Amino acid sequence: MKLDKIVPFGRSLDEYQSMFNLSDSDLDKKIIGIADGPASFNAEMNDRGKSVLSIDPLYQYGADEIDRQFYNVVDNIISQVKNTPDNWSWSYHLSPDKLRENRVNVIRKFIGDYETGKAEGRYVTGELPILSIDGDDFDIALCSHFLFLYSEQFDYQFHRAAILEMLRIAKEIRIFPLLTLELGKSPHLDTLINELHANGYEPTIKKVKYELQKGGDEMLRVVRA
Ligand SMILES: C[S@@+](CC[C@H](N)C(=O)[O-])C[C@H]1O[C@@H](n2cnc3c(N)ncnc32)[C@H](O)[C@@H]1O
Repeated sequence: MKLDKIVPFGRSLDEYQSMFNLSDSDLDKKIIGIADGPASFNAEMNDRGKSVLSIDPLYQYGADEIDRQFYNVVDNIISQVKNTPDNWSWSYHLSPDKLRENRVNVIRKFIGDYETGKAEGRYVTGELPILSIDGDDFDIALCSHFLFLYSEQFDYQFHRAAILEMLRIAKEIRIFPLLTLELGKSPHLDTLINELHANGYEPTIKKVKYELQKGGDEMLRVVRA
């Protein structure tokens, strides 16, 4: 997959649960979603009476602009997917056309919630590697389809600083996937795991049920010492 920039593609609550092995009791914890973009995770959690704080630089824009950015890229991405059939697993999304349909449903839910959620402080503009969050009392910080995936665009030092920042504000962090856009294991992963171990954190790679990029069915969980 070749992308000019980081794309505003979002995933659902069900996908977040699968990607991150989130149990029902995890959903009751204090969760922050970093690089949540146009995921419907926050909107769907809010519908269930649960609360999530989402942080993303995309939230500097209004709903119309985010919607426009999504529709600018969606067909190009789906046609790249169709042209590389061996790179994808269809256990979850079933087909490229279904994948497009699922992504459209997600962004509709996100857009429907966005302005209200922003006014309620659930969508906050911010970006790694420095977050303007004072406290350190989140139970879980999640980050999907940003760290490791864009390893070519963001170097080791960025990943290291971003992960330490997530560990500053949350007791545990979960990151998915661990593959790059080219489907290789992120070149930053092993060194980061060793460094986290050496600094007293507890990093583990966990198998998850979700897979779209072929072989992309693992997440990194790191717990504070
Ligand atoms: C592919 S989207 C993933 C959205 C969501 N996590 C999901 O999986 O559904 C990647 C997101 O990373 C965000 N992003 C880009 N640079 C960032 C940074 N420095 N810190 C945090 N998020 C960033 C983009 O704005 C975009 O919304």
